[in-house]
Amino acid sequence: MGLPFILLNYKTYLQGTGQGAVEIAKACKEVSEGSGIEIAVAPQLPDIYRVASEVEIPVFSQHLDGIGAGSFTGHVFGKAIKEAGAIGTLINHSERRLTLAEIEASLKAAKEFGLKTVICTNNVPTTAAAAALGPDYVAIEPPELIGSGIPVSKADPEVVSGSVEAVAKIDPAVKVLCGAGISKGEDLRAALDLGSQGVLLASGIVKAADPKAALEELISLI
Ligand code: G3P
Repeated sequence: MGLPFILLNYKTYLQGTGQGAVEIAKACKEVSEGSGIEIAVAPQLPDIYRVASEVEIPVFSQHLDGIGAGSFTGHVFGKAIKEAGAIGTLINHSERRLTLAEIEASLKAAKEFGLKTVICTNNVPTTAAAAALGPDYVAIEPPELIGSGIPVSKADPEVVSGSVEAVAKIDPAVKVLCGAGISKGEDLRAALDLGSQGVLLASGIVKAADPKAALEELISLI
């Protein structure tokens, strides 16, 4: 198995807002360069340009709407995200739920602009449904464990291994990430041992007193 993919979602945490978004991205870049592990960041939308301009690191949007150019006030347009410097986007996070039709439209919009896609899901059946749409990644995150500090890879290993099995049957080209409560090296190790190809995480790193040290600990068992 290759090295894992780590995607750090800043959500709207204060520590990852504005200049903080840049500082955390710099920490991610240093740890990524020192380890060879791909680490990407998903700052808030207004911070995408700032992070992508100041730090050489893959940047994802936290959301994208399934719309095109035109009269769509307040929407997130794929071309704008791409031109801001993002290379990919989250779709359907538990904190930004979409309908199935909206997920499909967002995916289509992202693909139109060559953006990588990570569809977030909450259980095995939704993971299977998401995989059938053909994103680059699905990210299984049981909502009740998000932000809890209780790692999904230990509290609910079946949802991770079940997602890995379901996706392999539907489309083996789709990669599986898992998330919720992941913060320690042993959590990431367990996630990989369950067959996932990386993690989507947030609070354990973004809210850490020293995000760089927290990232170094996270990858210590790889
Ligand atoms: O998108 C990442 C996520 O929802 C997990 O959050 O704080 O449990 O790592 P957290």
